[in-house]
Amino acid sequence: MDPPLVLALPKGRILKVLVPLFVRAGIDGAEALLVDDRTLFRDLGTLRVLLLKPDDVPTYVEYGAADLGVCGRDVLLERSIDLYQPLDLGIGRCRMVVAGVIGQNPPADFPRVATKFPRLATEHFARRGVQAEVIYVQGSVELAPLTGLADLIVDIVETGTTLAQNGLEVREEVAFISSVVVANRASYKLRQMEIGPMLTKLRAAVRPS
Ligand code: PRP
Repeated sequence: MDPPLVLALPKGRILKVLVPLFVRAGIDGAEALLVDDRTLFRDLGTLRVLLLKPDDVPTYVEYGAADLGVCGRDVLLERSIDLYQPLDLGIGRCRMVVAGVIGQNPPADFPRVATKFPRLATEHFARRGVQAEVIYVQGSVELAPLTGLADLIVDIVETGTTLAQNGLEVREEVAFISSVVVANRASYKLRQMEIGPMLTKLRAAVRPS
């Protein structure tokens, strides 16, 4: 018997939106993914689901520890991992932006930029010919310009609430983000008999007729 198809999913916010989509797609037992315990893998029939930190999803898929995964384009762009991306799920939509303190202009030369996405931030400013000093932080990025750690931030904006509540405003757009299905290159060919029908069901759930 074939081993189960392994699917790497991000824990947290995206999983809550993903599960109703999986239910619409007819993936048996998908509701079990929201059961709050410390089991880090769940078996749904012939599908084994790994529950991971979002940043780790492409790593598991790249090395073949998972055949498929779901992750944000932000993670893929930042990690520069080249995986098949057969389907945009249209969930987790948000924008990557440059933001700063309302009414306060950063220095034109050598602005300091705090971000969880150092590669994307560096590339963005380099494209504009600005030599930015990029400072890596892991979270609460909005605090950086309020405390003098940085002049600007590069971060994700979804509703805009966090920026507004911290007195920040969008200055530039960097990228539009959504969640995509990613596939290991070997699995995509070798297990197409299982992956193909699964993608068809998910595609139908994303765009109901
Ligand atoms: C993300 C992001 C922003 C916030 C944007 O942070 O880094 O801070 O969400 O969402 P909004 O536009 O809807 O307010 P997250 O919640 O992941 O927490 P973090 O600050 O610990 O990274």
